[in-house]
Amino acid sequence: MADIETAFEHSGLGNPHVREFVRHWAGITGAARVEVVSAADDGRLIEEALAAGEIFPAGEGRYYSRSYPKDTARSEERTIVATSNPADKGVYDNWRPSSEMKPLLERQMSGASAGKTMYVVPYLMAPPGSPLHAYAVGVELTDSRPVVLHMIRMARVGVEHVEGLEDPSMFVRAVHVTGDLPAMQHGTPDDQRYFVTVADERTILHYGSSYGGNALLGKIAHGLRQAAYDGYASGKFLGEQFMLIGIEDRVAGRTWHICGGFPSASGKTNLAMMLPPDALGDRYRVFFYGDDIAWLWVNPDDGRLYGLNPEFGVFGVAKDTNEKTNPTALESVGPGTGAIFTNVAYNPDTQEVWWEGRTPEPPADVAGWLDWKGEPIADRPEGSTEPWSHPNSRFTTTLANVPNIAPDYESPAGVPIDGIIFGGRTRDREPLIRAITDLAEGVYDGLTLGAEATFAAEGVDGQLRYDPMSMRPFMSYPEGPYAAQWLSIVGAASEQPIFAHVNWFQRDPEDGHFLWPGYRENLRPLLWLMRLKDGTVTGRSTPVGILPTEEELDLEGVDITPADLETVLSIDVERWRQEMGFRQAHLEQFDGLPEAIWAAHRRVAAALESADV
Ligand code: GDP
Ligand code: PGA
Ligand code: MN
Ligand code: MN
Repeated sequence: MADIETAFEHSGLGNPHVREFVRHWAGITGAARVEVVSAADDGRLIEEALAAGEIFPAGEGRYYSRSYPKDTARSEERTIVATSNPADKGVYDNWRPSSEMKPLLERQMSGASAGKTMYVVPYLMAPPGSPLHAYAVGVELTDSRPVVLHMIRMARVGVEHVEGLEDPSMFVRAVHVTGDLPAMQHGTPDDQRYFVTVADERTILHYGSSYGGNALLGKIAHGLRQAAYDGYASGKFLGEQFMLIGIEDRVAGRTWHICGGFPSASGKTNLAMMLPPDALGDRYRVFFYGDDIAWLWVNPDDGRLYGLNPEFGVFGVAKDTNEKTNPTALESVGPGTGAIFTNVAYNPDTQEVWWEGRTPEPPADVAGWLDWKGEPIADRPEGSTEPWSHPNSRFTTTLANVPNIAPDYESPAGVPIDGIIFGGRTRDREPLIRAITDLAEGVYDGLTLGAEATFAAEGVDGQLRYDPMSMRPFMSYPEGPYAAQWLSIVGAASEQPIFAHVNWFQRDPEDGHFLWPGYRENLRPLLWLMRLKDGTVTGRSTPVGILPTEEELDLEGVDITPADLETVLSIDVERWRQEMGFRQAHLEQFDGLPEAIWAAHRRVAAALESADV
């Protein structure tokens, strides 16, 4: 195709390795045209997508998109990590030999972009010039224009990111082919979809979806799976599904940094966008660094553990986002932000969007409103309780639109980490917060994170399951070496971060209400954790960690009953003893788990056995 060479010339794409990669896949996918994209093309691509009916106007420079109705969440079952080394097979990484997966994907992608444009999206995960820069470069090929628009918001996109590289062949080769979505047969034995990371070749091949989590390859496939594998293979870093925040104490004149893992749709974005409760707002500010991915390494200059967010945008859960729960999120998708809403309800007449929890009741006048599938609400039978928006509907916006974005969010140096937290939706057992000061016990705690699965993945909503460090869907190498990598990276830091397990989701067993009010109030346990690290509070020791006393938590103005408060600040020893048996079985699945992790397990179990009930 002479046209490819013209596209290279026009865009200034000179890297011969990128050119070769593009030619190769243009040949396989049979795309009719090739177009090289930079962020500056956004305006034109938006106009083209509007004209083509791929997106719709959502008022004042914002947009609405709808994905194929069966294609609305990540598919864990169809996601595979492939390498040429069978020793890379773990429990959760769905390992397959690359000799099997690569030809299979090539066959599926053959001719599958016929008639379409193949967009070439050179991108960078992480701010330019970071210590992990070499691992951050990638090129996504995609035959979907809406995917390009999302990529421009979620990653740094432009030809400059693949030019002048120290090693011009070192970039992640990512290929996304949409395929015939109605023919995909989701969840049946004939399911055609495959989302494969060929980790030892730094190649990502995703076929059969245009939903963000499956199709934005910079984010999850590169930023998490590939990065975790690269960190392991190089021995240099960790790639984790973590939020990353700064908490500034204006009175003391200092800022702490906390990162931490919560399974998808369990509160990372809300925590990163947190507005302090009114009573604390004069003294503290929370700064957003990242809400879904952190890369962690030890900085040789000061010996501390550092973290950075490789992303450039936010792909947030819409459900329950409102002025009270998360005003920051609403502002970040306000007029002029270029935000894209996906799979929410939409009114083409007024260009408004709505989702469950946006307001207590849906718009009273249903005229013009379409549900997330595009069907008129007015056509629904009387009393229908079908949600208007999909539970995993999302908003996409760039970091610069986030009102509490940290002033130094683009600094390639990253930030030193004071605390690492784990949490999830756990309806009983897990207290509001329990702090852990020992590295092996902290890693053990992450490995035994147990939570309810959410609608962010297909077909598992509500299931209680273990989700190590919240990385279960993103694991790319076996759990034993993964635990060892954690001990090795964090253990090399001169100043150890404090660990904690948090839970905003404990429920009343009778009526199901959340015992802890959550959202803005979550700052209080985090402040307590930082004070504990500084030694200005002591908490009280329990077999599963240090818990705050009521006095230490500073609960002025918190809306919680004394009984609920007591529950979230106590340990049910019997329930925990039962849990230890489940944990034992969970950990026994993993080969080569470091002895330090088993020792931590035994210490916690012994402490529970000798505890008073
Ligand atoms: P993420 O996918 O981990 O980034 O999670 P989000 O921050 O997007 O939150 C997912 C869902 O959990 C949203 O519907 C939130 O409104 C809800 N959520 C977040 N934080 C809290 C909290 O502290 N308490 C309660 N009850 N819900 C929360
Ligand atoms: P989430 O991000 O963790 O904010 O839900 C997307 C995902 O993990 O699929
Ligand atoms: Mn995530
Ligand atoms: Mn999120």
